[in-house]
Amino acid sequence: MIVNVEQPIVEVHDLTVSYNRKPVLWDVDLTIPEGVLAGIIGPNGAGKSTLIKTMMGIVPSSSGYTRFFGEPIDLNRQRISYVPQRETVDWDFPARVQDVVLMGRYSRLGLFARPRKADREIAEHALEKVGMQGFAKRQISQLSGGQQQRVFLARALAQDADVYLMDEPFAGIDASTEAAIIELLKTMRSQGKTVITVHNDLQSAREYFDWIVLLNMRLVASGPADKVFKPELLEETYGGALTMLSKVHDLMEMKDFPTREQ
Ligand SMILES: Nc1ncnc2c1ncn2[C@@H]1O[C@H](COP(=O)(O)OP(=O)(O)O)[C@@H](O)[C@H]1O
Ligand SMILES: [Mg+2]
Repeated sequence: MIVNVEQPIVEVHDLTVSYNRKPVLWDVDLTIPEGVLAGIIGPNGAGKSTLIKTMMGIVPSSSGYTRFFGEPIDLNRQRISYVPQRETVDWDFPARVQDVVLMGRYSRLGLFARPRKADREIAEHALEKVGMQGFAKRQISQLSGGQQQRVFLARALAQDADVYLMDEPFAGIDASTEAAIIELLKTMRSQGKTVITVHNDLQSAREYFDWIVLLNMRLVASGPADKVFKPELLEETYGGALTMLSKVHDLMEMKDFPTREQ
């Protein structure tokens, strides 16, 4: 894969974010090149969700900024798609699957335009891509966690963005759904999309991502996976979390995992 690091599609500069004056992200600086599948990795409470919410302009920053395509997000909103963490969404509101997916078209339609036939077809096609075409008329609240995640993804696909930010799309779903989603993300990458995913599992992170951001309130590292997925950097990210450290140890034991720089 050829990555153009000179022209990042996303640039986060000196970002500090606080809740009630307590900083949870400090001076985060990173860039992400176009056309990668990037993973944001770090322990619980590391500020991963906060980082992508701030990048999306949902949470305000105390200082610093984010640029997409070299510009503030407001100039490019329809090119950027956000898939929130499933547990943070209220699933009781009455909405059919097809309507949720159609919402993906609204950023393109503008506030007052009604969706056209073409938009409905794009939404239907997005449901097919995630294998949920049979569920269009169902209430979203009646779906399993994995099915809801697929619908979320379909909504993002319907937007036809260039950059996707996804918060733990694999949390609480079964292995076959995870495999289907990662295949879809790889297809998107092959079409030139940039996919940035908050991810919690170290083992699969190494397999899935070609760009990795290690975060624990501060940026530990950001770069190509083979440069960043190093025991010492992972330990720095998960430092103190014993279960995680033993996982890192397990990873180092894997025979294809270099414990030392060549
Ligand atoms: N809305 C909020 N108000 C106050 N504190 C918050 C809020 N959201 C998150 N936090 C705190 O900010 C820190 C980072 O949270 P979060 O970004 O959700 O981490 P992660 O996604 O890595 O688990 C945590 O300590 C969390 O408790
Ligand atoms: Mg989170």
